[in-house]
Amino acid sequence: MHMCARKVLVTYATKYGTTREIAEEIAAALTGAGLDTDIIPVMEVGIIDAYDAVVIGSPLYMGKILVEAREFCEQYKPYLEGKWIAFFVSGIAVCKEENNNNETMLAAIDAMSEYVKIEEKGTFGGRLSLDRLSESDMQLASIAGASEGDFLDMEDVRAWAKEIGRKIADL
Ligand SMILES: Cc1cc2nc3c(=O)[nH]c(=O)nc-3n(C[C@H](O)[C@H](O)[C@H](O)COP(=O)(O)O)c2cc1C
Repeated sequence: MHMCARKVLVTYATKYGTTREIAEEIAAALTGAGLDTDIIPVMEVGIIDAYDAVVIGSPLYMGKILVEAREFCEQYKPYLEGKWIAFFVSGIAVCKEENNNNETMLAAIDAMSEYVKIEEKGTFGGRLSLDRLSESDMQLASIAGASEGDFLDMEDVRAWAKEIGRKIADL
């Protein structure tokens, strides 16, 4: 056991709660690994000086991460410098032209490297249940030819969390 556990912030954006669930699973795994972990939505994050590592998560909508997650990276750029950063996305790649490939998800994460230096990337299956969507998301989803489904695999999430937990503990 370290004398002084590394401090980690897990922060996330979400529209319908799937990415929050993933973030909670990651935070629980990091806490279980002995790291001093806080979990805070991107919109509620305050001063982050005390954290050694920051894990940022967002769902993908039309190939992009949510605007509040991007704004977090933009606004916290100077404060994130020098910290160890991991970024994960959840999605089901509903946009047909994007073909549900991992590359699209990684590209959405890479778009953030303008603001932050990302050490580890995670891509997880998300969830789509049409009856829960807002009117406008429903329209977008039907234009994109989205099909409902639960693609979230918490085993995947835990495996990734374990891996990043080891790296953070070794910082
Ligand atoms: C309108 C709409 C657009 C979406 N666009 C994408 C996309 O481009 N790529 C993707 O992988 N998933 C896409 N998704 C699926 C969501 O990313 C997925 O449902 C995610 O788990 C939702 O997370 P949240 O509950 O945290 O908002 C889209 C879903 C909706 C409703």
